[in-house]
Amino acid sequence: MSDSKHVVGTTDLNHIEAPVTWRAYLICGFASFGGILFGYDSGYISGVLGMDYVKREMGNAVSTDVDPSGFILASWQKSLITSILSAGTFFGALLGGEISERIGRRTTIMISCLIYSIGVAVQTGSINVGGLVAGRLIAGFGVGGVSATVILYVSEISPRKVRGLLVSGYQWAITIGLLVSSGVDQGTKDRDDRSSYRIPIAIQFIWAFILSAGLFVLPESPRYYVKRDRLESALKSLERVRGQKATTPGIQAELAEIKANYEYERQIASNSWLDCFRGGFAPRSNLRRVIAGTSLQMFQQWTGINFIFYYGTTFFQQVGISNAFLMSVIMNVVNVATTPASFYMIERFGRRTLLLWGAVIMCVCEFIVAIVGVADTSGHAANICLIVFTCFYIAGFATTWGPAAWVVIGEIYPLPIRAKGVALATASNWLWNCVIAVITPYIVDKDRGNLGVKVFFVWGSALFLCYVFVYFFIPETKGLSLEQVDKMLEETTPRTSAKWKPSDTFAQTMGMANNDKEDSAHQEKV
Ligand code: BGC
Repeated sequence: MSDSKHVVGTTDLNHIEAPVTWRAYLICGFASFGGILFGYDSGYISGVLGMDYVKREMGNAVSTDVDPSGFILASWQKSLITSILSAGTFFGALLGGEISERIGRRTTIMISCLIYSIGVAVQTGSINVGGLVAGRLIAGFGVGGVSATVILYVSEISPRKVRGLLVSGYQWAITIGLLVSSGVDQGTKDRDDRSSYRIPIAIQFIWAFILSAGLFVLPESPRYYVKRDRLESALKSLERVRGQKATTPGIQAELAEIKANYEYERQIASNSWLDCFRGGFAPRSNLRRVIAGTSLQMFQQWTGINFIFYYGTTFFQQVGISNAFLMSVIMNVVNVATTPASFYMIERFGRRTLLLWGAVIMCVCEFIVAIVGVADTSGHAANICLIVFTCFYIAGFATTWGPAAWVVIGEIYPLPIRAKGVALATASNWLWNCVIAVITPYIVDKDRGNLGVKVFFVWGSALFLCYVFVYFFIPETKGLSLEQVDKMLEETTPRTSAKWKPSDTFAQTMGMANNDKEDSAHQEKV
């Protein structure tokens, strides 16, 4: 190892990856479009459940004092229709982790789109609550598979210097999906026939079609091929995602490094689900990485973001803000408009920095909303404060925890367990998403826990824990190749990781080339 350090200088370490063309960036970024399915599917249902036609056709008659339309859906019906998606996504994400190891990332995403479309067809055709529930469960499997596998795929094919940016594109697509769904719901909510809910539901076919058609022509992840020992295919795929000839030294070096890293990791552990939980608590152990990824996604949900997106309208009504619907549109617009700032920030300041600062900024905003809300009994100042600081809070989330939580889970796992690690973390996102969606009305609503605006104390306190968690567990991964991240975790701790610089490669560690002679030998072999 020390001999090879003499052979390979810093320049070589900087060139373990081929330069990238614009076309290659577009290829890598396209799959991020998958975030639309996630955002739209989470977003459209609240509007549909509030539509008069849906309440009349699928709900029960009540007096107009209870609901001006004279009909309501029972709480259990609303809760079941909303949360059943998360049950599907939870298992869909885990299944995606398994299947993408067997048949590839790309095919798994396309199959997930097909399952999603079947679920959409069932929902579109449904005329009662049972049909909607069944359709959302099936669609959930598809969304879960897409959400876990897209992160894996984009992280694996992206060039290291813009990986954060391209995965943040996924978050942006989620926010666009949320916004579009609320716009479509608004556009059809006053229709007095089945088209009121069928249009917003059926629009989902478009997202599934675009994503699967695009992936049909995109290459498979080279890292998947290396894992299957198909080096020829891995080389061809690298050629396409980097837009460079296979003979380019950068392409050769990148492939050598992926392969060497895989061999190295395989000496330590294999790739079963059990291996995800092995290795004790050492900084680079699989168990520790799985805990880091699943907890990061859990904490992302505990920032309270979906309280605004799922219950914002009713909450704003509850505290007496007159145009509650407009408010939730504004929140969605802030979310979409501010997310792109993260494209720059995540590569400039790094993941860890964004997560730490994001926790501080959101924590301050939430405590301000809660304190002013409790102190101002007239409600006027409190409501202005609520609106302004909720906007800052959303912008804080959109530029930090929103994208960074996804970026980090695509980077911290070693290749043998990467698909499963990303799947576990994504499943954790959906699990906590569901738990929080189910419990929030019980702690906030007037006839229940009646926390009202004090709920922001809960989210603010959770953000304090988010900070502590990131400080101790989340390393800085900016600018490193996925294989360098693995080395970094071996040689440093999360707190010192930002200063870590690579001093050798896995190809050197494994004695697999890196001087000219060995390079060309390797070239022949491939
Ligand atoms: C979260 C979602 C949330 C969305 C809001 C995502 O990163 O995982 O739960 O609804 O951001 O933009």
